[in-house]
Amino acid sequence: MDTVTQISVLRERLAACRQQRIALVPTMGNLHAGHLALVAQAQRAADIVVVSLFVNPFQFGADEDLAHYPRTLAADQAALAEAGVDLLFVPTETELYPRPLAEQTQVWVPGISDQYCGASRPGHFVGVATIVCKLFNIVQPDIALFGRKDYQQLYIIRRMVADLALSVQIQAVETVREPDGLALSSRNQYLTRAERALAPQLYQQIQHTAAQMGQRSAPQLEIELANRLNVAGFRTDYVYIVDADSLAPLQVGSKRAVILVAAWLGRTRLIDNMVTQLEEATCHSVN
Ligand code: PAJ
Repeated sequence: MDTVTQISVLRERLAACRQQRIALVPTMGNLHAGHLALVAQAQRAADIVVVSLFVNPFQFGADEDLAHYPRTLAADQAALAEAGVDLLFVPTETELYPRPLAEQTQVWVPGISDQYCGASRPGHFVGVATIVCKLFNIVQPDIALFGRKDYQQLYIIRRMVADLALSVQIQAVETVREPDGLALSSRNQYLTRAERALAPQLYQQIQHTAAQMGQRSAPQLEIELANRLNVAGFRTDYVYIVDADSLAPLQVGSKRAVILVAAWLGRTRLIDNMVTQLEEATCHSVN
């Protein structure tokens, strides 16, 4: 596996491969089995796999964990080489942002970028869409892979690709979980031992709500889920049960719902989600 830090060098390497199918897996590093599942799916779908590793300052708020975000380049390189990745792109901040961030051209997917996680993290999805668009322009992949764990991010990237007619196919990858159900995340290592013991309840409580879909209205189920999480020891940021295909409120005719949750455990913010098929009868009792 070659590690490349410059855009020009990456472009040169890829110019020789354009007859083959190229996949891009964008990451912020500190890789775990979730990231490696994206790599494995990329290898099944393409001939050349490029992984990018960049802790993108543009998507972190001023009071967020940019300075503390775990950086483990040597271990990440070893894991990706072992997995058989072809090219690792590890740009410096000035390579991707040669000008001050305040002057950076932005990609903004309106509406959805300010809801759910976007409401709690103002500017976050502008940072995500901008860097992902830029990585697409640099790599020009045939396909790019994103995890369902970040359900809203995946939705926003699909919107950006559609709205800007970018010629990349987006593939989603199922959430990889610990044996106890906790979704793998680089931020899990911030959890204390006691918080780690509580953390699996996030997904367990979401599953409990999924099993109750149709028995009570979505707003009622949202309140109950938030209450159960708070009683368990979380500080719920939001709970929404919305249309899984539009991320808009459920309506009669919605086919699938997604339960979206963000909750704090101490100083760590966890997110998770679950998609459920809606029965015909459920659609009539969503509100
Ligand atoms: P990062 O958090 O490193 O995640 C990189 C990719 O791995 C994302 O598509 C994310 O959804 C996926 N992923 C994370 N945990 C996962 C899990 N448990 N199961 C399956 N997939 C998982 O998301 C980002 O970086 C950044 O916002 C990025 C898209 C790279 C832009 O900077």
